[in-house]
Order: sequence, then structure tokens, then C-alpha cells
Amino acid sequence: MPDSPTPIYLDNAASSFPKPQEVTEAMHRLIQKISLSPGRSAHRFSLAASRVIFEARELVADFFGCPDSSRVVFTSNVTEALNVGIFGLLQPGDQVLTTGMEHNSVMRPLRHLEKTRGIGLTILPTDPTGAIDPDDIPPRLSAKTRLIIINHVSNVTGAVADLAAIGSRKGGALLMVDAAQSAGVFPLDMDAFGIDFLAFTGHKGLFGPTGTGGFLLREGLLLPPLKMGGTGSNSEQEEQPQMMPDCYESGTPNTLGIGGLAAGLEFIRSTDRETIRSHEEHLTRMLLDGLSQIQGITVHGPPASARRGSAVSLTMTGKSVADLAFLLDRQYGIMARAGLHCAPAAHRSIGTFPQGTLRLSPGFFNTEAEIQTTLTALDKISTTP
Ligand SMILES: Cc1ncc(COP(=O)(O)O)c(C=O)c1O
Repeated sequence: MPDSPTPIYLDNAASSFPKPQEVTEAMHRLIQKISLSPGRSAHRFSLAASRVIFEARELVADFFGCPDSSRVVFTSNVTEALNVGIFGLLQPGDQVLTTGMEHNSVMRPLRHLEKTRGIGLTILPTDPTGAIDPDDIPPRLSAKTRLIIINHVSNVTGAVADLAAIGSRKGGALLMVDAAQSAGVFPLDMDAFGIDFLAFTGHKGLFGPTGTGGFLLREGLLLPPLKMGGTGSNSEQEEQPQMMPDCYESGTPNTLGIGGLAAGLEFIRSTDRETIRSHEEHLTRMLLDGLSQIQGITVHGPPASARRGSAVSLTMTGKSVADLAFLLDRQYGIMARAGLHCAPAAHRSIGTFPQGTLRLSPGFFNTEAEIQTTLTALDKISTTP
């Protein structure tokens, strides 16, 4: 065992690392060159900051198949985006159909509104890998179903929801998608999938920094903002402007982060999303194949042959997941995440609550050698009493 092993980062489902050099360079340039406060003043720095935000908005709209970039709203992460949608769209008496694989960024606001606004929740069943069957949706819809909320790719098991099939079965309900784990890796097209509210985070598959994210709103859909304040527009009015996207973007935005996010999107464009996806898929298969050879390991999620995300959840007989993560980090330099991954509902659905799982999540910058080192480490741990 090496004294100070080379670090291996396998926690990309939490936040991608490293960021592409283009992202760090773009952010470095921005913070050195301009004051970063857009739309508030008419001087060149302010105009340059406005341009950064505008160009990022155009990139995001194009990336997610949205014809109008004014329908892209920047928030500080997907949690804030989901909160805007959930609090803004649901009224007393509304029914929500969601899945047993949702993150607390969906479940906590929903549980809160269940108590405070009397909304009703229907939870779609999942199989033991965390997959849902789109055919389970139509029988559970009623005239009161306002919203269907779907986690596109599970941060716990890597299960992928078939958005096209879900979109075509949504009836009169609105479809909200939590794309935290899929954006940047899986195809996501608002129109093609019938998505009404698409929420994304910037710091995972989109390679942006933390503190970035947002949502895209289908044309014609209106909801009240969660926060109000200065937008740099309509300053003569004391009422919140109604126009998109200003209505939802009160307060000086994270121009630096949004500039970094734009560089992340450019990186995906020039690398090609499919190339990113196939590399992650290859490493995930390699990881799953290797894990299947190690005694005492159970993988909780879709098999290597399935279309799946790169989050791989496992447990090992005789070892707690916290001990596994600790040993991997301290003895082998391998960074993984243990526990419930902010998704207790998902662990209940797959039968790993309350202990949770050890999650390994390879990303685009991981290598085959790193996966092999991880497999060797887990094999050694499995045979050490
Ligand atoms: C499926 C899912 N939804 C929501 C979130 C919350 O992301 P953020 O902390 O960036 O808001 C995460 C992040 O872990 C996630 O994996």
C-alpha cells in the first residue's frame, strides 16, 4: 500500500472534477478583466458582463432544444430551480405524481407543500434497480394531477428514466424534469420530450463551477417568482417585472460562475456529448464487470448491459459503507461517497435504507487505470478482516 497514494476522484455525481482547463481559464480571464455586474450600469464593464450572461443563456437554450433563450433562467443550483417550479406551480388541492427515486431537493419541498398547501402526492413504484415503468403513469393521472416530477438519471443507482415515453403519457399534467445527473451526458430536448420545466445544475455534467444552475420554462407557462428585488430592468417600478427572465433573476447574478458554465458548455460542444457519454459508459461497464468478480459485493442498480448513468451504488458484506469510504480515501486515495446521497426515498425504494450505499461515480476525466486501481483496492478490502 503506497504511503501517499495519488488521489483518484470518483465522486463526479456530487460535482465533476477536474473542470476543463477552458473553464478555469475563462473564469480567470473574467474576474481579471471585468467588474461582473451586468445590466445595472451603461459602462463597458457592465455591458461586457451582460454579454457574458446573454451568450451563456443562448448556449443553454440551444443545448436543451429551447427556441427562445429568454425562457432560460439562471439560479444558484438545481435545488433553487426545482423550488421555483414546485412552489410556483402547485396550488392547494393539486396532485403531484413523482417517483420513488427523487432527491430531497424535490421531496422536501413536496413534503412541505403536502402539509402547508394540502397538495396530494402519488409515488410511482420502482424496480429494485430504481427504474420506473412509464406505463404506470396513465392509470395514476387524474383531473387534479398538475405536475409529474421525474429524476432523469438517478444519483443513487444510475437508472435512466425514459423521458420520451413519459412525455407522451403525461396527459394534461405538466412535466418537470430534474436533470441534475443527466445534463451534459444524456440527450435532453425540451420539445422532443414534452418537458414543461427542465431544471439543471451547472457543476456536474455541464462542467461549470458550483453556484450555477437554472431552469427552462415552456412557452406560455407562467408562475410566480420565489424571490423579488433588483433586476437592473424597469427600475422605475416598485413591482417585480413580469418579463422573462428578469422576473426570476433578482439580485446581482453569479456572472463569474455563469461565464464558467458557458465555457463548460463550449467544452461539451467541442468534445461532443456522445464522446463524453461513451467514455463514461465504458468506465462504468469496466467498473461493474470488475465489481461482479469481487466476493461479498452487491451492486444496487441496473446491470452493465443496461443504458445507465455512471453512478454505481454498492454494499459489501461485513463492512459498513462509511468504513468502506473511509478506507478507500485514507488508504488508497480514492474519493467516493457513502450514505444516503440526499435521497432517502431512493434508498427506501431499492431496499438500502437506512445504511445507504457506497457510491462510485466515474466522470469524463477518469481513466481505465484509475478504475483498475479502485477494483484492486476494493478486492483487497473485501479479503481483509
Ligand atoms: C438527482 C439530483 N437532484 C438534485 C440534486 C441537487 O443538486 P444541487 O446541490 O446542485 O442543487 C442532485 C445533486 O446531488 C442530484 O443528484
